[in-house]
Amino acid sequence: MEIFHISAECYPMAKVGGLADVVGALPKYQQNAGHQVRVVVPCYNTKFKNENNFECVHWGTAELGNFKFPFSVLKETTDKLGYELYLIEIKELFDRPNIYGYEDDIERFLSFQIATLDWIMQRDAIPDVINCHDHHTGLIPFMLQFSYKYEVLSNVRTVITIHNGLYQGWFGSDKLHYIPEFDLRHVGFLEWNNSLNSLAVGVKCAHAVTTVSPSYLDEINVSANGLESLFNSVRNKSKGILNGIDIEVWNPLKDKMLEEHYSIEDFETGKQKNKDKLCERFDLDPSKPLFSFIGRLFDEKGGDLLPQASALALSEHFENINILILGSGNPDIETQLLQLQNDYKGNYNVFIGYNEELAHLIYAGSDFILMPSRVEPCGLNQMYALRYGTVPIVRRTGGLRDTVIDFGDDGNGICHDQSSVGDVCYSINRAVNLYDDKTKFNKIIKKGMSTDHSWERVCQEYIETYNQIIQKNES
Ligand code: GLC
Repeated sequence: MEIFHISAECYPMAKVGGLADVVGALPKYQQNAGHQVRVVVPCYNTKFKNENNFECVHWGTAELGNFKFPFSVLKETTDKLGYELYLIEIKELFDRPNIYGYEDDIERFLSFQIATLDWIMQRDAIPDVINCHDHHTGLIPFMLQFSYKYEVLSNVRTVITIHNGLYQGWFGSDKLHYIPEFDLRHVGFLEWNNSLNSLAVGVKCAHAVTTVSPSYLDEINVSANGLESLFNSVRNKSKGILNGIDIEVWNPLKDKMLEEHYSIEDFETGKQKNKDKLCERFDLDPSKPLFSFIGRLFDEKGGDLLPQASALALSEHFENINILILGSGNPDIETQLLQLQNDYKGNYNVFIGYNEELAHLIYAGSDFILMPSRVEPCGLNQMYALRYGTVPIVRRTGGLRDTVIDFGDDGNGICHDQSSVGDVCYSINRAVNLYDDKTKFNKIIKKGMSTDHSWERVCQEYIETYNQIIQKNES
């Protein structure tokens, strides 16, 4: 079948978070499974865009009420990604340094969605399925069904995949006229709690809703930033499909970003060499357990717990552990984390920012990965960590609950229930004891390394979902 993935992010073209990793990998596996898969993202001014070749396959003008935005559709010209990548180039809106965070984000992503459909509409073939991702593409299922202009596409089946339901893309009814003309009897689909809510529109209008883990689907039925009752009402078309990871990119035996390659058979020496490199770079002690955090420094990820938990753990285990943090986000959290550097020199360090290469080295060289998330729809870091023989320490929530089981229950990691400094420190204490029991520790590492989180299995679940909605339409 012909499948389109439409998204704000796709690795390696444009990445802020895990959304990019998923949209960069799932299509490759779908294509390998025999489908024709196209990915469409906005054309940001990124390194990938500047270093690769594209050909222009279409151009037009996206209309948002009285605004007119000329656009081009650029196609990546090599086959190296394993699927066809298309960029929607709207210079005025996307030729900027960042992906999100502008006052006109509504105009930006709405124009992106309109330009994408304008282009798809005039192609020779009509796609079987359009898989939208998060609120940036939430209006597509509505426009396909109700905007007169897209009538030729009104039979296309749509799926919305929710990677993060906290962000919903709200806007005021003063912008209602941006949406290409539709039968006003359907205006109710656009509203939620007195505003226009892009995610809610997608959830209401898509033929299927998927979340990126089964537990997250259960959770958003109880707590979803105002959308709980909506999720309850669409339960019969919803499914939680746990993300996979790209095991070609994330392979400790081949990863070019590592100091030393290793496998489940010889991980001890391999991991130590990576740890030595990391410790040398960050002035840490390679003979002590290394706890790392990689990610965005926001409350959602438990980032606010890190400064206090690090200080407490380091003072309790003075000079017996290392903590390393890689991330950026809330400036208060960043400042607090930086301040700890003087107090715990030699055992603690922080790198504010993001660096893909460094992240790979951290997964390989650490003993434990901290994920104290309050909300984690799936979480990929714990899966990368497991594959690299690094034991995840997680709060039981969302996808973390579905992938990490406490070693006390014969599992592959360390789990706690509360989002509190106390719970994080308690888990660190357990980890320190575990580290001292090498036989047990190595057994848990091996268990993690042998877990199968590849996309091959997961990709089939998406295809089944597509097939179900196609069949429903036919019957
Ligand atoms: C978002 C979620 C994360 C998930 C990722 C990919 O970033 O916060 O939990 O793993 O999307 O689906």
